[in-house]
Amino acid sequence: DIQGFIFDLDGVITDTARLHTKAWRQVADQVGTPWSQRLQDSLKGISRMESLELILRAGGLAHTYSDEQKEKLATAKNTEYLRLVATLTPADILPGVQSLLDDLDAHGYKMAIASASSNAPIVLHHLGLTHYFPEVVDPRTLHHGKPDPEIFLRAAELIKVAPAHCVGVEDAAAGVAGIVAAGETAIGIGDATVLRAADINFADTSQMTLVNIRAAMRTPSV
Ligand code: G6P
Ligand code: MG
Repeated sequence: DIQGFIFDLDGVITDTARLHTKAWRQVADQVGTPWSQRLQDSLKGISRMESLELILRAGGLAHTYSDEQKEKLATAKNTEYLRLVATLTPADILPGVQSLLDDLDAHGYKMAIASASSNAPIVLHHLGLTHYFPEVVDPRTLHHGKPDPEIFLRAAELIKVAPAHCVGVEDAAAGVAGIVAAGETAIGIGDATVLRAADINFADTSQMTLVNIRAAMRTPSV
């Protein structure tokens, strides 16, 4: 029986990918890396410093910047990202998510956030969702990023629910892989081919209702 729900943030609760993109584009323009859809997609779910490395590499600049200069670029990106995040409101919560959280809360499920973003608490604040998530994993305390299961195991620990009794919700393949490796039940939001490792797939968040989740748990996809 399921007792806990662990949510990724970006692409599951809200679409902050467009804000990360805007902020990284400024850095790319500054250093002279041409932007592409492929580069943009590759940044999904990737940590801040890894994202910067990908942007520098895409511009043939992998060895041009010192660690100190890289820190400055990453900080500039984050400053711009935070400026954009401040414009978020509850209207930016993805369809169906608020009512799912209300349902889960009403049924006494424990809830946590497992996001690679160290800005997750401030994003939740602007969305007005802080009170649903007493537990937010601090990614700076982790040794490995997704697809490693560490973040999902830590989230289960924080809500004091055994992984086997947890559901994890993700929109990225690396995230789904992490949930599965943690021994939790994986819900994939988005392309079911990309997220075929998930136990349950929904095309978008509007289909992710408690009724649909319970029905899918009784008839797991093969
Ligand atoms: C999430 C996003 C990534 C972002 C990462 C770190 O995984 O999908 O695009 O780079 O978090 O976010 P942060 O806010 O800590 O820079
Ligand atoms: Mg995500």
